[in-house]
Amino acid sequence: MTKIERLGVVGAGLMGSGIAEVSALAGLDVIVVEVTDDAARAGRSRLWKSLNRAVDKGKITEQERDAAQSRLHFTTTLHDLDDRQLVIEAIAEDAELKTKLFEDLDKIVGDPDAILASNTSSIPIAKLAAATERPAQVMGIHFFNPVPVLKLVELVPSLLTSEETVRRASDFATEQLGKQTIRATDRSGFVVNALLVPYLLSAIRMLEGGHATAEDIDNGMVLGCAHPMGPLALSDLVGLDTLKAIADSMHEEYKEPLYAAPPLLQRMVDAGLKGKKSGKGFYDYS
Ligand code: CAA
Repeated sequence: MTKIERLGVVGAGLMGSGIAEVSALAGLDVIVVEVTDDAARAGRSRLWKSLNRAVDKGKITEQERDAAQSRLHFTTTLHDLDDRQLVIEAIAEDAELKTKLFEDLDKIVGDPDAILASNTSSIPIAKLAAATERPAQVMGIHFFNPVPVLKLVELVPSLLTSEETVRRASDFATEQLGKQTIRATDRSGFVVNALLVPYLLSAIRMLEGGHATAEDIDNGMVLGCAHPMGPLALSDLVGLDTLKAIADSMHEEYKEPLYAAPPLLQRMVDAGLKGKKSGKGFYDYS
């Protein structure tokens, strides 16, 4: 089976723009779809900023940046994905929205061998696969934020995914993007978030309970356990709305209190404090 040359990414948020960036740098032609012109412009500007930063840091040349930019196309028309060999969905962590999108993609993407993948952290892949007529070619391909920095991709086949699909997704992640993969079963949170999310929620409960300040909780884990950043700063990086949505999906799946979003997280999301992307979360980024 041929390697992936034409990629579609749905959603130009933190994850979608990161996936588009590493894929364009790897030489793929990438179409990024957003719902509105404003969202497409915001995604494009995030991506351009990240590519410029990579040039400033000496990681890529100006020529490599320009070549990657020429391979990136932004649109608000889902039908533009009709000739794609792989589409990765990276929209909000909402099962209903994702299911509807997979239903639409299944009708639009013409290549019968094309793979429809989700970057979800917590929504059942089987549910997305069941919305299509090609469940054997649906799977989770889960990246980590910041996508250009973190090496891991979780490969998540559902009960219906073919081994050929997993092999092609694995080749795409490792040989084309230079990532490393682990394989997980289709259980909410897969491997990394099943461990990470309860830890992040515990840190929020600790802050809520007055055990320590945000700075001291984070410094504790950075200085005491050599984590690159503390759990509250990491929650801000993931996005508090995203963290809450992931926790809700995991709680729905396992019904265990360790996945229940603490009231403070809920209130912060209600108040529009979404972390780094909104300018304020546990820390102020303005
Ligand atoms: N794009 C490209 N490169 C970036 C970048 C970005 N968005 N952000 C940081 N970098 C690079 C920098 O250029 C720098 O590279 P050099 O050392 O070669 O110069 C390096 O990463 C370190 O960056 P900084 O010096 O700016 O800052 P830092 O040392 O504090 O690192 C960090 C920042 C990379 C975010 C680091 O703190 C980190 O890895 N944190 C943990 C992130 C993490 O755990 N992510 C997983 C989240 S969970 C998830 O994504 C899954 C989910 O479903 C929720």
